[in-house]
This record gives sequence, structure tokens and C-alpha cells, in this order.
Amino acid sequence: MPGNAQLSIDNLVIEAEECRRLGIGGIILFGIPEEKDEHASGAYASDGITQRAVRALKREVPELLVITDVCNCEYTSHGHCGLIVDGDVSNDETLKWLSKTAVSHAEAGADIVAPSDMMDGRVAAIRAALDANGHFKTPILSYAAKYASAFYGPFREAAESTPQFGDRRSYQMDPGNAREAMREIAADLEEGADMIMVKPAMPYLDILREARRAIDVPLGAYQVSGEFSMIMAAAANGWLDLESTMIESLTSIRRAGADFTLTYFAKAASALL
Ligand code: PBG
Ligand code: ZN
Repeated sequence: MPGNAQLSIDNLVIEAEECRRLGIGGIILFGIPEEKDEHASGAYASDGITQRAVRALKREVPELLVITDVCNCEYTSHGHCGLIVDGDVSNDETLKWLSKTAVSHAEAGADIVAPSDMMDGRVAAIRAALDANGHFKTPILSYAAKYASAFYGPFREAAESTPQFGDRRSYQMDPGNAREAMREIAADLEEGADMIMVKPAMPYLDILREARRAIDVPLGAYQVSGEFSMIMAAAANGWLDLESTMIESLTSIRRAGADFTLTYFAKAASALL
């Protein structure tokens, strides 16, 4: 994606410095390990790329809020978000990986952990593991309403995490189903989520609005890679004005009810705002 690249830890620290200067509320990390394997070993290794990155950020730019994405698809050789058993993702086996990963991120100093895998029961499992390891104060930002979306395409290319077989529809949600989002959100809050996210953002503003009506915990929206890329491509072709389209897209997400937005426009928008 234009203006986005995989970063080494030294360059990440420079980028984080800039984010802090711009007044951005925080950053979220997605790790890409040197080697991917069937057991997502890099996801929960104490010296994994994300764990090392968090430690460097907390040492060099301590004031910047650091959220870590907790999932396995960037770390598995097959690109799925969980352990494969008999050709399918095993929900319950995957909870063990997610719990270990969240604890290792908290140990490294992450301010917030954000599970994005969509396995059932993962918020409860992660909360129990964090508490059992003394991380009572680490909040969970749950990607509670995450749809099986075509708009993740550019991210998967960047993260080298496109599933090698099948798709993610057995764990991510059906784009036609609005009511399931409300059940997922209610379940995650019941399990102990501190904050909720809707993803993608613009094609799901109705879900965001409905979530806003139903809950009063902090609610976020994730303007995903495909949303960003569409606007960038149209601007590059001279079809849309970049600045005003960007600001309008972010305004619409805010208007629908988001307290905070994850966006690839963060630096550009902050500079303007
Ligand atoms: C993986 C994950 C995805 C994104 C964030 N975490 C992709 C997916 O589910 O395939 C997408 C982000 C984006 O498109 O910007 N769990
Ligand atoms: Zn995943």
C-alpha cells in the first residue's frame, strides 16, 4: 500500500517517534516473523518480533500507547488464524495459542492486547491467562464484530498471510448478518472485553451505529487496508480529492459512533487536524 511498509525495529522506533510528535493516540503492531510454521511459534515466543518491538517502543517512546494485534495468521505457514486439525481450524486448541501470545505481549509491556482471530471464547481465555500471570491491568480490545471481508486483501498481501487453502468464513462473520454482530459483542463483553471494535468500518457503519446504541464501553472502528487503498487509488488517478475524501471518510466513522478509529490515514489526518 502506498506509504506503508514492513518495518524493522529500528525504523519502527523512528516511526513511533513521529506518531507521538503528531499527537496520534496510539499504534497497533502486527508482527511478521522471519519463519512461519504450523504452530505459529513466532506468535508467542518471548523473543518474537512483536515482543521485541514492544520492548523497544516502551524503552524508546514510552509515552506512546502500544496495542498489539493478537492473532496467528501472520505466523502460520498456512495463513489461517488458528491450529489446523483434520483440515479445519480448531477453535478450542487455538485458544491456548492466543492466551500464551497475549501474556507474552503483556510481559513485554503492551498497553492493550487486541485479539482479532474471532475464535469463540477467546476473550474469556485471554482474560483468565492474563490474570493468572499477574496482568490484571492489561485491557482487552476485542475485534468483536469482524466480518469475512474482501477489503482485507492489501493487508494480507503486506503481511504475507493469505490463507493457503479455504477461507476465513468459518470464524469471521457473514457480511449479510447484522444481528450476529450484536451477539458477538454481547458475548465478548460478558467474557470481559474492555473495548469493542467493528471491522471493516465504512461498509459496516450500520453495525457501528447499532453497537453504539447497545453498549457504552469504548467503541472503535477499523478502517481497513482495502478502504484505504480504494481512496488512495482514486486519488492517484485524479478521480477523488485525497484530503477531503480522507477527512470525510473518517468523519463518517466518527458520526456513526466510533470513539476511536484505527486507520492507515492516521499520520496524514493528524497532520491536517
Ligand atoms: C488478521 C487480521 C487481518 C486484518 C487485521 N488483522 C486480516 C484478516 O483477517 O485476514 C486486516 C487489516 C486490514 O485489512 O487493514 N487476523
Ligand atoms: Zn488472523
